[in-house]
Amino acid sequence: MQTRTMSTTSSRGLLEDSFPYRLYQKAKRVGTWNPADIDFSEDQKDWQKLNTDQQQDILRVISQFQAGEEAVTLDLLPLMMAVAKEGRLEEEMFLTTFLFEEAKHTEFFRRVLNAFGEKGDLSHFHTPAYRKVFYEILPGAMSRLETDQSPEAIAGASVVYNMFVEGVLAETGYFFLYQMLKKSGIMPGLLEGVGHLKRDESRHIGYGTFLLQRLICEHPPIYEVVMAKMGELGPLAIQLIHESNLDGEVSSFGGNPEESLNFAQKQLAIRMEVLARAKGKKIEEIYSISESEIGVL
Ligand SMILES: [Fe+2]
Ligand SMILES: [Fe+2]
Repeated sequence: MQTRTMSTTSSRGLLEDSFPYRLYQKAKRVGTWNPADIDFSEDQKDWQKLNTDQQQDILRVISQFQAGEEAVTLDLLPLMMAVAKEGRLEEEMFLTTFLFEEAKHTEFFRRVLNAFGEKGDLSHFHTPAYRKVFYEILPGAMSRLETDQSPEAIAGASVVYNMFVEGVLAETGYFFLYQMLKKSGIMPGLLEGVGHLKRDESRHIGYGTFLLQRLICEHPPIYEVVMAKMGELGPLAIQLIHESNLDGEVSSFGGNPEESLNFAQKQLAIRMEVLARAKGKKIEEIYSISESEIGVL
C-alpha cells in the first residue's frame, strides 16, 4: 500500500494565499444564496401575460439552461477525483463549492419551470449543436478522466467544461437573458437568480482558467492542445446560436442573434488570450494570481 503524506499536519499546512483557496473562501462568502428563498409569484403572473411566441422563446432558453446545469452537475465528479488523487487539497476544497453551486443552479431552473406550470418534455428545444455539446462532447471529455488522468485529458476536460460550456455558452446566454429581463422589467425572481448564477459561474470559469494556466506552466506542450481544442469548439458555438435564434430571426423579445454571436466570439478570444499569458510564467505567479486579473466577479 502507498504511504500517504498529510498536508495540513505538515509544515506545508494549507496554501492559504493560493488562488484556489482564495476562491474557496470567496465561494463561502458570496455563494450561499438559496434558490428556495426566491419568490417567483411575480414571475408566475408575468408568464401568464406573455403571448405564445414569447412563452416559446423563454421556454427554449430555459430548457437549454436547465439541461445544461443538469449536465455540468452530473459530469463534474471525474475532475474532482483527478484533482483529489493528485493531493491538490485546496483545489478540491474549492471544487466542493463548485459542485454544490451547480446543484443549486439545476434546482433553480426547475423551480422556474415549476412556477410557469411547465411539466412537459422540453427536449425538442435541444438543437443538433446543443445535443452535440451537452449529450456527447461534454460527458465524453469528463468521463475520459475516469480512466485517463493525464495532463492532456485534464486540460481537454477543462477546455470543454470551463472554457467552452461555461466561459462561452453559459456566459453569453446568461448575459443576454439578464439584459433582456432587466430591460423589460419582467420576472424579478428569474432575474435575481440569474444575477447569482453569473457570479457563481465567474468563479467556476476562474478556476478553469487557473487550472489550464497551471497545466500549461507545468507541461508547456499542453498550450497547443488547448488552442487546438478551442479552435475545434468555436464553430459549434456559432451553430448553436444560429439554431437557437431560428436562423437570424429576431426573437419576440427583441434579442438580436448577431449581438450574441459577437459576444460569444469576444468571450472566446478573451479566454484564449488569458491562457496565452500562462506561457513563460513561473508556477508561483500562477498560484498568486488575483481574482480580478482572471475576471472573477
Ligand atoms: Fe452552473
Ligand atoms: Fe458552473
